Amino acid sequence: MQENIIPHDFSVTQRERSIQKEHKPLLLWFTGLSGSGKSTIANAVENALYSNGYHTYILDGDNVRKGLNSNLSFTEEDRTENIRRIAEVANLMLDAGLVVLAAFVSPYAKDRENIKKTVGYTRYIEVFVNTPIAECERRDVKGLYAKARAGEIQNFTGVNAPYEAPVSPDVQIDTTEQSVEDAVKIILKHIEHKLKL
Ligand code: ADX
Repeated sequence: MQENIIPHDFSVTQRERSIQKEHKPLLLWFTGLSGSGKSTIANAVENALYSNGYHTYILDGDNVRKGLNSNLSFTEEDRTENIRRIAEVANLMLDAGLVVLAAFVSPYAKDRENIKKTVGYTRYIEVFVNTPIAECERRDVKGLYAKARAGEIQNFTGVNAPYEAPVSPDVQIDTTEQSVEDAVKIILKHIEHKLKL
């Protein structure tokens, strides 16, 4: 299918877009169980970056699955396709010069490895929101753990589907020990030098 596709070279370069924005692009990838706090922390980090003049965008599991990926389920195969598409979208946004914050359960190590290959290792920061499942389940903000335990949801991560924890994430946050403010400080400290032109 690819043989007759010849990419066009456009004249405004990624570098020029970055110079205009006065910072480098970066993908902050938040992985962790449902209810671990990924979206809350991503939101707070985006607020801090936005206030400091960075050009940002958030991609979030629940939102993307309502649109672009509305045809995908939670089987291993569909999760892989979910993450593949997000990685490609994030890659376009990086090319546009943005700091992209992506919050997805992304439970499979091989899928996370593929994101790095797609966007480039130096543009990928993995944030493992390592909240214990007992705490995610205690919060059960969306009532999904209760449904999964009752057998009403199949392939629910942590209950009847696996979560392969990152072995060497760039940043690790446990929301039972660190506040959202702490998490923002830790993450910003980690990425500041990477955003400098
Ligand atoms: S991923 O595994 O493919 O990365 P994604 O982050 O897009 O998942 O979507 C996860 C969100 O979908 C969860 O926060 C939860 O609200 C909802 N959800 C619904 N069903 C499931 C399920 N079976 N497993 C995990 N999350 C689910």
